[in-house]
Amino acid sequence: MDRITIFDTTLRDGEQSPGASMNVDEKLLLAKQLEKLGVDVIEAGFPIASEGDFAGVKLVSDKIRGCQVAGLARASRTDIDRAWQALKGGADPRIHTFIATSQIHMQHKLQMEPNAVLEQAVAAVRYARTLTSNIEFSAEDATRSDIDFLVKIFTAVIEAGARTINIPDTVGYTVPREYFSLIKSIRERLPNGGDGIVISVHCHNDLGLATANSIAAIQAGARQVECTINGIGERAGNSSLEELVMALRTRPDNLAYETGIVTTQIYPASRLVSQVTGIRVQPNKAIVGANAFAHEAGIHQDGVLKNKATYEIMTPESIGLPQNSLVMGKHSGRHAFQEKINDLGYELEAQQIETAFIAFKKLADKKKEVFDEDIDALIADEIIRIPNYFKLNFVSVKSGTVAMPSATLEVEVEGESRHGAEFGDGAVDAVFKTIKQLTNTGSRLLTYEVKSITGGADALGEVTVRIREEGLTVMGQGAHTCVVVASAKAYMNALNKLEYKKRNRPQVTV
Ligand code: KIV
Ligand code: ZN
Repeated sequence: MDRITIFDTTLRDGEQSPGASMNVDEKLLLAKQLEKLGVDVIEAGFPIASEGDFAGVKLVSDKIRGCQVAGLARASRTDIDRAWQALKGGADPRIHTFIATSQIHMQHKLQMEPNAVLEQAVAAVRYARTLTSNIEFSAEDATRSDIDFLVKIFTAVIEAGARTINIPDTVGYTVPREYFSLIKSIRERLPNGGDGIVISVHCHNDLGLATANSIAAIQAGARQVECTINGIGERAGNSSLEELVMALRTRPDNLAYETGIVTTQIYPASRLVSQVTGIRVQPNKAIVGANAFAHEAGIHQDGVLKNKATYEIMTPESIGLPQNSLVMGKHSGRHAFQEKINDLGYELEAQQIETAFIAFKKLADKKKEVFDEDIDALIADEIIRIPNYFKLNFVSVKSGTVAMPSATLEVEVEGESRHGAEFGDGAVDAVFKTIKQLTNTGSRLLTYEVKSITGGADALGEVTVRIREEGLTVMGQGAHTCVVVASAKAYMNALNKLEYKKRNRPQVTV
């Protein structure tokens, strides 16, 4: 079987999803899970974009040893130098440099003539080659570019030292048959038929065709696919890793290609990405959606009870979806808890396990049964959503049919403790008003959602808020058995993300 390189760009293109943002610790946590998942390359960010992006790429590159770590750079010395500073401590660092090649991008965005674009691309790759031999070159908007120009630029950058050439469908415009022909023609026209060069594809999902296009490209000779967990990414997202990998695994009769992905780590990875970014997976999402293995119709249920294969083309176990998993309770000890979090796919440091265990014990005192989803929420709250600027110390509310709703809070603003109280249209409104006043922030609440994580009156309530300030939108989440506390946590989480984004506003975007 031919081996397909899986290039995961959840931490770079995925982070460009509207509302998503990841701080450096979150990037490292995700990178560890991607390493466990068995991806070949992690694209950790765009180092020139901001200080935060630089720090994220550096941290991931310094810590991850099991896969290559890539950093994105425009085709310029300044970008490449910055990327290399972040990457150079890595085990097998890759410089990923790009420039747009379509007429519309060259004329309107770059305002450059094709020859100048070609020269800039070659100069960039030649320069990158003085730093490493692991160079990828992308022709942005390739699917709307002239094929003769693509062949010319790819031939030139290969000559200059690029080892991987990427042919992105940047705007999700192509269709499978057309993409197949494009990839095949480029491959045939490369020096030595592209021998020794990896052809890569990078598909966006604007027409819902990203996975189909990636598969067509593989059939035409591409051997690297760029994708993201849960398909998150710019606009409608990127090709989804889990869809591609499970398609190859489920149809080897038709698609005789293998990957290094440990498929049982797919579900934990999906859940972690969702927890970190705050972007929920739609229930009908292929492979990882809540309904992907649910059978509603009576005839289907009957069939599945008789033989699962009647309606299931892959097993939930194969993606690591926990089956009949052990419910935890207040008598569960440290060892059982640690096993549980390992089963759920978390890779935590000793101190983080201890913090999570203390929170678990508190929760188990309130709730008879602690389900996997409760543990996810608890880890998200205690480990993932670490407050960097604003911290909630306590919240207390007065509300009901007779009292005028009010909230009293103590928060820390970069270590300085502040108290305050406000009235509101309800308990949650009073909490949000108090937080705004204490943190001296003026964000607008766009959406507020509350859902119960598991069943029962003692269930954890999970609140998701979207807030906007200074043109930046972020999502925040919080969970607690009391929805008012969950709301306060969600709002504080959003404010932390907003502050991080404000301080790391990208100077450059792709
Ligand atoms: O979509 C795109 O073209 C990109 C490139 C930078 C690879 O993300
Ligand atoms: Zn992209």
